[in-house]
Amino acid sequence: MKTTVVNINRLTLAAAMAEMGYLLVALVCILCISTALSAAEIDWTKVETKTIKTFYPGVASWDFMREQDHGTGAAPVKTMKKGCVDCHVGENDAYDIKADEIISGAHQMSKSKTPLEPEPIAGAKGFIEVKAQVAYDAEQIHIRFQWAGSGASVADPALAANEQIDRISVQFANKIQSFNNYGCYITCHNDQEGMPDDRGGKTKLYTYYSRGKDGLQAKDKLDGYKANGQFIDLWEAGFVGKEVKAEDMYILEDRIEDNNDLTATGSFENGVYTVVISRKLASGDAGDIALADGAAFTIGIAIHDNKNSGRKHYTSFPHAVGLGAAAEINAQKF
Ligand code: HEC
Repeated sequence: MKTTVVNINRLTLAAAMAEMGYLLVALVCILCISTALSAAEIDWTKVETKTIKTFYPGVASWDFMREQDHGTGAAPVKTMKKGCVDCHVGENDAYDIKADEIISGAHQMSKSKTPLEPEPIAGAKGFIEVKAQVAYDAEQIHIRFQWAGSGASVADPALAANEQIDRISVQFANKIQSFNNYGCYITCHNDQEGMPDDRGGKTKLYTYYSRGKDGLQAKDKLDGYKANGQFIDLWEAGFVGKEVKAEDMYILEDRIEDNNDLTATGSFENGVYTVVISRKLASGDAGDIALADGAAFTIGIAIHDNKNSGRKHYTSFPHAVGLGAAAEINAQKF
């Protein structure tokens, strides 16, 4: 009888320990869920919103920035003494850039007297304002963008297959000083598809430093840039009907697709696109810029809308983002 009691007690103890084990497992699970929120779980009302103004640049490229057609803007870009924002953005975020005149075809370059947009888009405005919010947790970063537009590829998904997908593109880098000052413009050149010196549509985005006087830099030099993180991460998210499709790329000597480590969600309601792009802070992919708590980086964004493809897009100046580091766009930690 006595032994039986002991046995029962032992069993109860074992059961209690097993239960505690389950509890512990459950607790750990709750903790891991709370450190990796899904995009849908984020309370965006708790995240600071920054408005990024995008403007229509026509055929303005890195070459334009450094030539006489950029007037007195050329020399300080060539010597890299001043960034775009130093000259084009005044007090209270006032933009001094003739984007309305560029898109209508009215603006002519100062030396060549040719239009900065040879194929004007009738009735389109020069600027699109994009609301940007950045959130992160122990594992992931989530960037939410909202902007007004046509909804063309939402209404007609076939446009997406034709490269006329309504989309947002995000370039970012954390180890390129010229990207901090000039943003996406360091990847945009006259010999690219649709640009004035198009080489038969073969050339996509590339960084200016991937080329030397004699063309493409040697492979070991390019490999060095890549290994040092001196490339630009590129995310795209666009609408194929109501579906949001994400593409993960990077730019160095070309625009190159890498493992797709992105997830994107979004909607188009009342004439406004909403897109949330999420990725692991450090994906482990050599084609991704690894991010971490306390880090700052620079982004440049672009918007394609209403059946316009290729170079016909709205672009931004560079903007600094901080993950727990003071910046222009302060990310919210969850
Ligand atoms: C040192 C000052 C300076 C810097 C830096 C600078 N710009 Fe300019 N930019 C100018 C000036 C001045 C003009 C007018 C040139 C003219 O038409 O003679 C101009 C003209 C332009 C134009 C033509 C439309 C317009 O408003 O006249 C575009 C587009 C442009 N800049 C984009 C950029 C971008 C993008 C950057 C950064 C990559 C940049 N600029 C950097 C001074 C600057």
